[in-house]
Amino acid sequence: MSSPPLTPPITQEVHVWQWDLDACGSDFDRYWATLSAQEHERAGNFRFELHRRRYVSGRGKLRQILGRYLARAPRAVALEYGPEGKPFCTSQPAGWRICFNLSHSENTAALAISSGFEVGIDVERIRPIDESMPLQVFSAREREQFDAFPASERQTVFFETWARKEASLKALGTGFVLPPEHFEFDLAVHGDTTPRFVGGEAAEASHWCIRTLSPGPACAAAVAARHSGWSIIDMN
Ligand SMILES: CC(C)(COP(=O)(O)OP(=O)(O)OC[C@H]1O[C@@H](n2cnc3c(N)ncnc32)[C@H](O)[C@@H]1OP(=O)(O)O)[C@@H](O)C(=O)NCCC(=O)NCCS
Repeated sequence: MSSPPLTPPITQEVHVWQWDLDACGSDFDRYWATLSAQEHERAGNFRFELHRRRYVSGRGKLRQILGRYLARAPRAVALEYGPEGKPFCTSQPAGWRICFNLSHSENTAALAISSGFEVGIDVERIRPIDESMPLQVFSAREREQFDAFPASERQTVFFETWARKEASLKALGTGFVLPPEHFEFDLAVHGDTTPRFVGGEAAEASHWCIRTLSPGPACAAAVAARHSGWSIIDMN
């Protein structure tokens, strides 16, 4: 049975889908059949079966959801890639510009869908941090703020900030080709926010909006876009 069609998000919305990559069960073969030759080849390159299955579940579900917005069979959804590997969809009706971004951390997947503006999403499993990580992720100003937090709060603050930065870099499509300090945040602000600086510019930062997601107690997650006044619509 095919799933019902979906209406694309309006300009004040970002649709967010979340799923468990390990729970696709009998859907696996159906997902596999919808993947492109390039995706089959990539799936074949994973060393571990668990990672191969998660990749197929991620791409399979992505194609299924995009197909519902675009009124196309999942296999007919055409994906291409930006210069730093950000996938985008080319098989769209005239005048449409559905944008999307996918993130996965272990078995948790999250997909953001917007219309007319680029979006980025990041899910991070909260795990122990070692001494070198803050040095790699924070600007000098952020580092100073981070060091002032009590030790008991640092892990949460670290992953909240990391998710904001990675979601923003994924919205740009550069990923970590740009350094994480390209987006600089006020670490004292929890939840939805705007960066303090983007590329050192406060004026550019004011165009950005970063929203927090709660995929579960063991994860930090954020959705980012250079677009104001939008809200997350939970599609689960
Ligand atoms: C983008 C990036 C931050 C993602 O890191 P990650 O640890 O895999 O994080 P996530 O799980 O959140 O994101 C992965 C998904 O983001 C999407 N993605 C890949 N490259 C992307 C980019 N440049 N910008 C935005 N999204 C991207 C893909 O959908 C990918 O999942 P899929 O391949 O299973 O479909 C990281 O790969 C990066 O910095 N890439 C750019 C630099 C680079 O390696 N360039 C060479 C490739 S051409």
